[in-house]
Amino acid sequence: MSETSLSALSSESRRFEPPADLAATANVTAEVYERAAVDRLGFWAEQAHRLRWDRPWDEVLDWQPPFAKWFVGGQLNASVNCLDRHVAAGLGDRVAYHWVGEPEGDRRDITYAELLAEVSKAAHALTELGVEAGDRVCIYLPMIPEAAIAMLACARIGAAHSVVFGGFSAQALVDRITDADAKLVITADGGYRRGAPSALKPAVDEAVAQCPSVRNVLVVRRTGQEVTWGERDLWWHDVVDRQPDTHQAQAFDSEQPLFLLYTSGTTGRPKGILHTTGGFLTQVAWTHWAVFDLKPESDVYWCTADVGWVTGHSYAVYGPLANGATSVLYEGTPDAGGKDRWWSIVEEFAVTLLYTAPTAIRTFMKWGDELPNSHDLSSLRVLGSVGEPINPEAWIWYRDVIGGGRCPIVDTWWQTETGAMMISPLPGVTSSKPGSAMGPLPGISVDVVDNDGTSVGELGGGYLTLDEPWPAMLRGIWNDDERFRETYWSKFAGRYFAGDGAKWDDDHVLWLLGRVDDVMNVSGHRISTTEVESALVSHPMVAEAAVVGATDATTGQAIVAFVTVKGSVADDVSAGEAFAKELRDHVAKEIGPIAKPRQILITPELPKTRSGKIMRRLLRDVAEHRELGDVTTLADPTVVNAINAKMGSSSSED
Ligand code: PRX
Repeated sequence: MSETSLSALSSESRRFEPPADLAATANVTAEVYERAAVDRLGFWAEQAHRLRWDRPWDEVLDWQPPFAKWFVGGQLNASVNCLDRHVAAGLGDRVAYHWVGEPEGDRRDITYAELLAEVSKAAHALTELGVEAGDRVCIYLPMIPEAAIAMLACARIGAAHSVVFGGFSAQALVDRITDADAKLVITADGGYRRGAPSALKPAVDEAVAQCPSVRNVLVVRRTGQEVTWGERDLWWHDVVDRQPDTHQAQAFDSEQPLFLLYTSGTTGRPKGILHTTGGFLTQVAWTHWAVFDLKPESDVYWCTADVGWVTGHSYAVYGPLANGATSVLYEGTPDAGGKDRWWSIVEEFAVTLLYTAPTAIRTFMKWGDELPNSHDLSSLRVLGSVGEPINPEAWIWYRDVIGGGRCPIVDTWWQTETGAMMISPLPGVTSSKPGSAMGPLPGISVDVVDNDGTSVGELGGGYLTLDEPWPAMLRGIWNDDERFRETYWSKFAGRYFAGDGAKWDDDHVLWLLGRVDDVMNVSGHRISTTEVESALVSHPMVAEAAVVGATDATTGQAIVAFVTVKGSVADDVSAGEAFAKELRDHVAKEIGPIAKPRQILITPELPKTRSGKIMRRLLRDVAEHRELGDVTTLADPTVVNAINAKMGSSSSED
């Protein structure tokens, strides 16, 4: 973020008070901050009592930096906490999910009792297939109820799930299955995207051919499209449907692994972020209840994130179900069946709490006010944002056009690693500034530090760190303690370094400024520059590649790649474009379509310092058409001119 936009942000003076009626009945009031500050562990212990424990914990926290154990000695079952206890409390008929398929009219309402029955059957099926507590199961599914059912069935028998986003490639699946040593893959024939069935199974077929650890592939029939069938393949309906619909769940240790979720780091190899049970469930349940001011008996909540991302784990599955909430789950894209699809869903189900990403908000802004204005959105009462900084303009539009000027916006900062929300306003307490996540939630401690690790105090900018452990924190990187220490705990001794820049303004309000490392944020999805570079150089014709995230008005950042080739590519424009397309498709194959560069520049050289380091800052300037920074350290300054000249005539993704 440039200095000018930085100072513009911190001079933001508009403030929006919580609506009086919401404040009067809010789940959380201002005194909680103080209480949590006085006794942080006591505060979290109090929140852990929201769950059903089969054995109480002996100690709230065992902290051997950087390794934490929360609710030590306690035992519980995550699936029981999300399902059985609600049914036992007489809430079996409450809808857990209003599921909306992408094809028009495709609907399924699932009550808590029904969800429990489905999860019970799936748990028996997993056991029959030899999955045991402590094993890993890979889930590669579209946004269909079976995604949540599969996750909860794993949790029920103490197996850890590793959900891989359906947009990732076969190669990405191979890497994740292999690293986790998964025994079983759960997938579907396909899902619906943009009005057509989109296949999933071929990627799994290609992947498992290289994964000897996989004993079986369990396949949900969603689209009915043709699939090729291998020895290890089993239909979900053949195996799951015939199982008993009750299941006696066992309690597991609070620190039992609940899931792995792979995320991009600054190297080419994704990291398996490990989350465990008791602390994770405590913090997602509390934050979901507090930050959305959830009234489970009357609210209809919709988190638009895919289960392939952490937001889908924490706030489409575990948080809302632990709280006994009623949620909408939607399979498709925002424009399937019309660009007002979301708003017709909000109207149809009278959604009260909406949680989505700035990139979606900016897209809707672009599509115009008429689409939301043509629907009754008056049911909405709290609006959430997550995944990237939300610019004040989009914030105001969200508030005015979607929220009718009535609804507080909760801009929630957190990460795959933090497991749950960390920095956010509380809708009944905080007077918010457009574009700011405001401050840490009760029970959370943050500190902005300078390069030496010295706190900037109450004013000024630097690196965001978390200086006290929190219940939903990652417990490590799967099979790689060294990388865990190195990535998060070595830059500033004894503190978790988030990888984000942040700044306190004059009102002691916190502004998140985006990543300070080589991680890009494209439509709220993390992709590392190195990962895309490795994918590019794995193409036989590519000699070198440098990738940068350039500011993009819709997706936040967009991927721009600078590539040098071995030999030469014919110099006419169409050959260049054809080659750029080939490279983009190659990246999609290696990582997934989400990692396709928006723009590829084929250039004779990359700008390097005399010591041979690629000058990314300079490339970012070129990619954003900014005036160039200092080029005096460049080995060959003319390279930049050549790149700049190319930039005008380059091929870019529509
Ligand atoms: O840079 C921050 C940005 O997203 C990163 C985490 O990405 P991921 O692990 O994929 O999780 C996204 C969903 C929780 C952070 O390091 N980020 C997330 N939320 C915000 C944000 N940046 C600014 N404001 C936010 N509310």
